[in-house]
Amino acid sequence: MNEGTIIDATALREAARRRLPRFVFDFIDGGAYFERALARNRAAFESLCLTPRVLAGNVERSTAVSLFERQWAAPFGIAPIGMAGLVHPQIDLELASAAQSFGVPYILSTAGTASIESIQARAPALWFQLYVGRDAAMIDDLIARAEAASVPVLVLTADVPTPGKRLRDLRNRFVLPFRPTLRMALDLLRHPAWSWRVLMDGAPRFANLERYDAPGASASSLAQTMAAQSSARFDWPLFEQIRKVWPRPLLLKGVLHPADAQRARDAGVDGIIVSNHGGRQLDAAPAPLHALPAIRAAVGSELPLLLDGGVRTGEDIARALCCGATMTLLGRPFLYAAAALGPATGPALLMQCLTNELDRALGQLGCSTPTDLKPTLLNPPAQS
Ligand SMILES: Cc1cc2nc3c(=O)[nH]c(=O)nc-3n(C[C@H](O)[C@H](O)[C@H](O)COP(=O)(O)O)c2cc1C
Repeated sequence: MNEGTIIDATALREAARRRLPRFVFDFIDGGAYFERALARNRAAFESLCLTPRVLAGNVERSTAVSLFERQWAAPFGIAPIGMAGLVHPQIDLELASAAQSFGVPYILSTAGTASIESIQARAPALWFQLYVGRDAAMIDDLIARAEAASVPVLVLTADVPTPGKRLRDLRNRFVLPFRPTLRMALDLLRHPAWSWRVLMDGAPRFANLERYDAPGASASSLAQTMAAQSSARFDWPLFEQIRKVWPRPLLLKGVLHPADAQRARDAGVDGIIVSNHGGRQLDAAPAPLHALPAIRAAVGSELPLLLDGGVRTGEDIARALCCGATMTLLGRPFLYAAAALGPATGPALLMQCLTNELDRALGQLGCSTPTDLKPTLLNPPAQS
């Protein structure tokens, strides 16, 4: 990407809105209830200022960070996205490949539209996100499959004890099992490229889960399998059991309370993803950026903290690191990029753009590496 290329998440989002049928755009773009948590995620970033430091002589800069015994090109990765195949049939594979070549983490969702095994063949460094659902045998098998595929990091999502209520999906009647309405049919006619792809490749499937359904299971039974992934069965004893069997780094995703973060650390977690699920679960939830400093204070300086929810620019990544994050994740922007510019091109350009923006931010903040981004750069300064 040269200096003149402009990629920004707002423009990508608008392009995605035009390219995708309304019910698909709303599914990826929307949040729970009145979307206050979704708005809060962005507002938290927009209102946080960083004070430039001058004359630092920081000519030599690097955006690289190390985490879980490897170097990453920059402190961001791709958050797990269920049903991403709605945007494009090859999206999971393309996102994983782009992340692999760029050198940032990609997390495949339990509800992904490509299987662990198929992605691992193209992008061996994939991380896997597990919904600890109702079916214990299925969970054991998914963990065994991740281990057999040499998945280096397992992510357990904790913030879906009950499904989120998303009004846009309900208004669009986009509920599983999928039953097209007349309005949807018209929408599909207005987006022939998308409709043609679905016609050619078939509707997206829960590729990680379908083997647990009876052969030839109906869409409705697959939908039940997916619904069973939201489960309040996931509790601390179960977390401890999984910790005992999973031999490699384990992350807990969806933590917002410092006491939960401390408990996870004491139970042997290797890192926490501070997240409100992109504002898709509890509309009253705080912005992760606001929750982060107290969590950092509670767990100490060593435990890796990843943050997602509202990260849109390299400067946002710098803001999150100043507040105590080790790394950030982005969800929707990679979907917008894939919809706007194609799954092979858009996400790769977005990665370059975020890295370039972060490098510029480091330069202006008098920093040489992401580890120089400290709370002292916050304006107003962090409370001690
Ligand atoms: C369409 C969509 C599907 C998602 N599916 C999952 C999922 O399967 N598992 C999960 O842990 N989080 C899921 N999330 C939440 C993301 O991993 C991440 O927390 C969130 O998107 C971050 O916010 P951002 O989109 O503002 O970057 C999903 C988010 C979206 C937008």
